[in-house]
Amino acid sequence: MSGSIYGPVTDWATDFDHAEPAYNPNAPEIWSELVEGGCPVAHSDRYGGMWVPLTHELVKEVAYDTTNFTSRGVVVSTGRPIAEPPVGPAPPITSDPPFHQVARRLLLPPFAPKIIAGWEDEIRKLCLGLLDKMGDVTPGETVVDAAVQYAQHIPVNVIARMLGLPIEDDDLFRGFVHTVLEKVNVSVEERLEAMRPLDEYLTVQIQDHIEDPRDDLISYLLGVEIGGNPLTPEHVRGTIVLLLVAGIDTTWSAIGSSLWHLANTPEDLARLVAEPALIDTAVEEFLRAYAPVTMARLVAQDNDFHGCPMKANEWVLLPFPAANRDPEMFENPDDVVIDRIENRHSAFGLGIHRCLGSNLARLELKIAIEEFIGRYPRFELAGDVQWSVGQIRGPRVLPVRIS
Ligand code: HEM
Repeated sequence: MSGSIYGPVTDWATDFDHAEPAYNPNAPEIWSELVEGGCPVAHSDRYGGMWVPLTHELVKEVAYDTTNFTSRGVVVSTGRPIAEPPVGPAPPITSDPPFHQVARRLLLPPFAPKIIAGWEDEIRKLCLGLLDKMGDVTPGETVVDAAVQYAQHIPVNVIARMLGLPIEDDDLFRGFVHTVLEKVNVSVEERLEAMRPLDEYLTVQIQDHIEDPRDDLISYLLGVEIGGNPLTPEHVRGTIVLLLVAGIDTTWSAIGSSLWHLANTPEDLARLVAEPALIDTAVEEFLRAYAPVTMARLVAQDNDFHGCPMKANEWVLLPFPAANRDPEMFENPDDVVIDRIENRHSAFGLGIHRCLGSNLARLELKIAIEEFIGRYPRFELAGDVQWSVGQIRGPRVLPVRIS
């Protein structure tokens, strides 16, 4: 897996880099060392300047302050986004108020709890199919990759069906997402060039939906209006890209981290198998402890943030996963307690951009765990885990031995 163009981190407090390959495997230790060492906001000169608040209160303050911090850029890169506010390249996540609310409202109906609940049978069938594909298992011997053979296929399949894209193109979608989220420390030209295949792919798919409308999200986006006008082609395209990107690596990572925890913690696995009613609190706890998503903002105007002299156009990382390990917010935050009752985590973000797909993400995560442990009530880690690089944190290679 590629590392940062800037080379190894010399000091996490002053040279922070989330794209350093050592970051994701060790992130919780890095956050607590920084905060306990008196550094609640880390800094880096990398990426043209980047700040990293690490406590729940500080992350929340930035997320709620849409005046000093803009969502024009939410994925840290060496360049700066070209698309102008308030729409941005992928509405509503890259939009600021007041347009943000307009763009977000359009997406509420297809992601409403009732509509999402209707996907349950499909998702269960999908998970069972993936487990069937793993073939015959010899307990104590067979090793399967819970990330490669299972977790990575679930969200991509669901979102492709929702959007109305061919599910057999799933490899292509994962490649696109990789480009958007992980190919970040390259030149602006190289990044734009890397985006071209996605752009060309979507042109064909959107045209196909214009000629042949159907009951899916792309046709929905082509049909909705703002103030009596259809969405601009850039808006339709940007939202499709957002839904592909927002829905795939995130949920794949959450499923992978949850199964990684269970492979590592036989007592939690045995308890969840024996007490299936714990699944809802377990899902919330996995989301808290292994929150996969760190978003970013750009500093909109020079401001003093608790003594940090932030300059316009610098990045601010929003590590919601670090906020979820804040001892001021959670009792024993590094303990994973699958029946934790009080659990106001921020895995889905804080403020106006709070995840629109949380109902879907929770449903996928719950079913993916239920079906995996239903088929394999005992499994353990069987080799090295490989973690993703960058703002989305989760296992990409996860060998487990079925026992
Ligand atoms: C476990 C899985 C997921 C996690 C942890 C997650 C997390 C997040 C977070 C932290 C944000 C806030 C971004 C910000 O403040 O800048 C967000 C926004 C968003 N997410 Fe998710 N997400 C997940 C799955 C999904 C899925 C499955 C979808 C839909 C297919 C989705 C769609 C969105 C959208 C559309 C937004 C933008 C909302 C807005 O800007 O108003 N997410 N997500």
